[in-house]
Amino acid sequence: MSDNTTLPLAVIVLAAGQGSRMQSKTSKVLHKLAGWPLIRHVLTTAHSLLPERVVLVTSTGAEDIVAEAQACEPSVLHAVQEQACGTADAVRAAMSHLDGFSGRVLVLYGDTPLMTTQTLEALLATLNHYDLAITGMEPEDPAQYGRLLQDAQGDLQAIIEYREASPEQRGITLCNAGVMAMDMDVLHTQLPRIEANNAKGEYYLTDLVSLCRESGKRCGYMLAAEEEMLGINTRAELAACESRLQQRLRRQMLESGVGMIAPETVFFAMDTRIGRDTVIHPYVTFLTGVTIGEGADIRSFSQIEGAVIADRTSIGPYARLRPGTTIGPRSAIGNFVETKNVTLHEGVKAGHLSYLGDAEIGSNTNIGAGTITCNYDGKEKHHTHLGSDVFVGSDTAFVAPVSVGDGATIGAGSVITKDVPEYALSLARTRQVIKPDWLLKNKP
Ligand code: UD1
Ligand code: CA
Repeated sequence: MSDNTTLPLAVIVLAAGQGSRMQSKTSKVLHKLAGWPLIRHVLTTAHSLLPERVVLVTSTGAEDIVAEAQACEPSVLHAVQEQACGTADAVRAAMSHLDGFSGRVLVLYGDTPLMTTQTLEALLATLNHYDLAITGMEPEDPAQYGRLLQDAQGDLQAIIEYREASPEQRGITLCNAGVMAMDMDVLHTQLPRIEANNAKGEYYLTDLVSLCRESGKRCGYMLAAEEEMLGINTRAELAACESRLQQRLRRQMLESGVGMIAPETVFFAMDTRIGRDTVIHPYVTFLTGVTIGEGADIRSFSQIEGAVIADRTSIGPYARLRPGTTIGPRSAIGNFVETKNVTLHEGVKAGHLSYLGDAEIGSNTNIGAGTITCNYDGKEKHHTHLGSDVFVGSDTAFVAPVSVGDGATIGAGSVITKDVPEYALSLARTRQVIKPDWLLKNKP
């Protein structure tokens, strides 16, 4: 038995074809799971194996997929499969980028996003004993997965695609999970032999197994957990994957010291970072780009995206934090407060019913209920600056651009259009009028 694990590794990621079963104008691999397009999940896992090169195969005109791939990893090589006529043909399209490569090749499907690095490493270790190795699984519902045929030794003999399988073969519960590893030599010698003589008229990569066996090569499989190997062809399968992935993310959060009262109601993005002893109350959604410190309290029905939130803050219930939000330590954002592109320094309080956008708010400033930054004049966005220790009375509108100095007080109901100097009181509302006995005097 030889140890191949030091040989160079190339990864081919197949992402051609529209994914018609999704019923969508968006390519299948750009649909999202936990905020990341499927292709980003797969490429991130691929790169964790430190491959010498990664080749992405798409259909023509898939600029959106290529852009996403390069944003994820600029070194990705790109090959075009002119017509989506099968997984073997897609690998063939990648071959020009593998000129001169010798070593191990891993083929991943762009629609199988939950695989972990450990599972792929285990597959590559299996390749030590075989010329070709695949991941198998025993799914709860074998559905239309390819079925694995074994010989008496338990080695892999063939993969039969569901469409070609006899009723008896369809009864086999051991399925092809879709990841394949082989020596480069296998691709050189066997790939050209694959033909499209099947029900779909496609070149099946899975035929490599029987061709290898004919040529006296050994094929094996390793069993992987179904929850890692779910393939996505339909929206229902996408939703099922989301559910599995959320379970995984919740488990990781709990293990790292994040508190959750009802974890099953909390949704994370792949890049959500949360410190210890922060507690998430039920029904909170994290979209991408959120970092939260330690000991924060994130209350129910809040939605948070693109926000950096410091230690010991309190957010929600019913808060909506949008991209560009920075919340300083011990600050509190209450119910029905929306923030966007705003920096709140330490100890700021905005308890109720506010919109704070395109603004900077100094430490310990108190924002009264119903305060609004009027940041948009119909054409452009403008900035509001509030100093520290400012007291903003309820129902104030700041018509930006406008600036308020440290320690200023704004009377309730003001519409602030001019800058307010530090320590000043500013009132901008009509005076209250009282007409005594008005009703008595006006009685008909
Ligand atoms: C494939 C396997 C099946 C396995 C299942 C696991 C084949 C022939 N069958 O079936 O044994 O159980 O995955 O999920 O491989 N693609 C291309 N070009 C093409 C066709 C497909 O790049 O011409 C890409 C797709 O974008 C997709 C992947 O290859 O990411 C798999 O193709 P798909 O049509 O989804 O194969 P399945 O029918 O799911
Ligand atoms: Ca598939």
